[in-house]
Amino acid sequence: MQLYRNIVIAAAAFAVLGFGASSSVADTTIKVGMISSYSGLNGEIGPVMEKAMRLYMKEHPKDLPPGVKVELLTRDDTGPVPDKAKQLAQDLIVRDKVQLLTGVIFTPNAMAMAPVVTQAKVPFIISNAGTASITTKSPYIARVSFTLWQSSYPLGTWAAKHYKRAYTMVSDYGPGWDAEEAFTKAFKAAGGEIVGSVRVPVVNPDFAPFLQRVKDTKPDALMVFVPAGTTATAVMKGFGDLGLKAAGVKLIGPGDITDDMYLDTMGDVALGVTTVFHYSDAATRPANKAFVAAWRKAYGTELRPNFVAVGAWDSMDAIYYVIREQKGKIDPDKTMDLLKHYKNANSPRGPISIDPDTRDIVQNEYLREVKKENGHYVNVELETVGTAVKDPWKELNKTK
Ligand code: PHB
Repeated sequence: MQLYRNIVIAAAAFAVLGFGASSSVADTTIKVGMISSYSGLNGEIGPVMEKAMRLYMKEHPKDLPPGVKVELLTRDDTGPVPDKAKQLAQDLIVRDKVQLLTGVIFTPNAMAMAPVVTQAKVPFIISNAGTASITTKSPYIARVSFTLWQSSYPLGTWAAKHYKRAYTMVSDYGPGWDAEEAFTKAFKAAGGEIVGSVRVPVVNPDFAPFLQRVKDTKPDALMVFVPAGTTATAVMKGFGDLGLKAAGVKLIGPGDITDDMYLDTMGDVALGVTTVFHYSDAATRPANKAFVAAWRKAYGTELRPNFVAVGAWDSMDAIYYVIREQKGKIDPDKTMDLLKHYKNANSPRGPISIDPDTRDIVQNEYLREVKKENGHYVNVELETVGTAVKDPWKELNKTK
């Protein structure tokens, strides 16, 4: 009995002195909620986003403070379904107590989540959704992906040097409207003429009648934005099948239409398609070669890392940075201040940073052309058409 009492006293002293408690004090798990599309439109791309985040975590075990872990809680928003995304964000915050949110392929979902993250003060690091105005919807949003203005505006300037008459075809929602407006503005300013514009449904559009009308108009170029993935693959197929390519119409657009992940499925029709974008898996810069090598080692060569993978990889880099800087204790306002000054000179896409005034990504834009190399269709970067490009929509609409 005496022995038992001594053991109890010793154990209590041990705990009071902090020895026994040391593991629970030092071990912190930061819960990060990741919302993406695992079913519905782009259901194939959500898993790629997750794979890139988990690969980052696996490759950077020493980049968190000692005893600090990240737990990624993934949820399926089932495509562009804003109510679902909003509900998932609420559940992740209230029930699962996540301290950070990330992911999200589709603009309407990010828009629906904005008031939720503002009210709960949960920093939301956007890995994909690209409509320019998203970051203005909440002070708790920062974006590491891209805006459609960043690619489509320089594309318009470049295109006017090569083509006189252009047609635009975009998905009828935020990123499509942005791509259309940005391209049109720059193309016209540089002397080009828009001979037709059409907006198509986001989900399950039948491209044939639209493409037939484009063909009948005989433009020099057709600028397209549709969501990367199966929609872009359908446009590409229609472009070939309806004879637009054979008729000499040049297909151009932001790089969503020649997503690296789908290029080999698209095949020959994609050859020669010219795009402006921030990421190609064929880019030869060392940081990209290292990224692609790590990806192939983990996931093989069949599934190619695309811009969504890189947006996700960089999101996790930004998340690790805010955790490190705060030594594992997440304060929402401090996190946003840190994100405003986030920089990475070695992203696979080149140097990136966050513009502190807008919380939006600053990055290079590359002119690329689809070519066949070593049996694969790839976006070959031809030139850098913009260095450290801020979102042009915000730049042009600045109130001085
Ligand atoms: C978006 O909804 O913002 C979005 C979706 C797919 C893309 C680009 C942007 O390829």
